[in-house]
Amino acid sequence: GPDGDPGAGHGYPGELKATLIGEDQLQAKIVELAAAVAADHELDSPPLLICVLKGAVTFTTDFARAMPIPSELEFMAVSSYGSATSSSGVVRILKDLDRDITGRRVVIVEDIIDSGLTLSWLQKNLATRSPAAIDVVALLRKPEALKVDVDVRYVGFDIPTEFVVGYGLDYNERYRDLPFVGLLGAHMYS
Ligand code: XMP
Ligand code: MG
Repeated sequence: GPDGDPGAGHGYPGELKATLIGEDQLQAKIVELAAAVAADHELDSPPLLICVLKGAVTFTTDFARAMPIPSELEFMAVSSYGSATSSSGVVRILKDLDRDITGRRVVIVEDIIDSGLTLSWLQKNLATRSPAAIDVVALLRKPEALKVDVDVRYVGFDIPTEFVVGYGLDYNERYRDLPFVGLLGAHMYS
């Protein structure tokens, strides 16, 4: 819990140094974001949510369920060359969309914007496919880490430039299953 070891009850004892954003705080913000996005799409056809695998899976499913309007769902997986904790901006598509997005209003659903390089690449890539509009909703953003100017309409939380895990976010594929966003203990980095 908040006073003790945040990872302990989830099978990660001694691995996290703190909870950054708790479960209730996450869920309350997602309801707000979902309402804001829905309000802007009310008069249009259902937005096509593009979930960026794998980190945005948890956020996307909660977000879609919190929206007071229908949405449709697509998945895209991209990999940016770089280390486990930083990206290079050189992106390759691991899994593309299953359908044409011509004329659709798409909403890119991202877990976290760090340098912004991945998102910037994705926005340009999707723009070549002639959607009616591209919006971005990101749960987390590290404002001090931004290296490119990205247009993000909806942001959940601005956070410090520290590596975070949980709620979809991983370190070497671990911690995605945590229901909150936490800070990894420094001793866990290899
Ligand atoms: P860029 O730098 O391109 O990075 O904006 C975006 C992608 O990098 C990953 N990322 C993180 N993953 N904890 C994570 O688990 C973090 O603190 C973190 N910062 C960046 C993530 O995959 C994101 O989509
Ligand atoms: Mg990752």
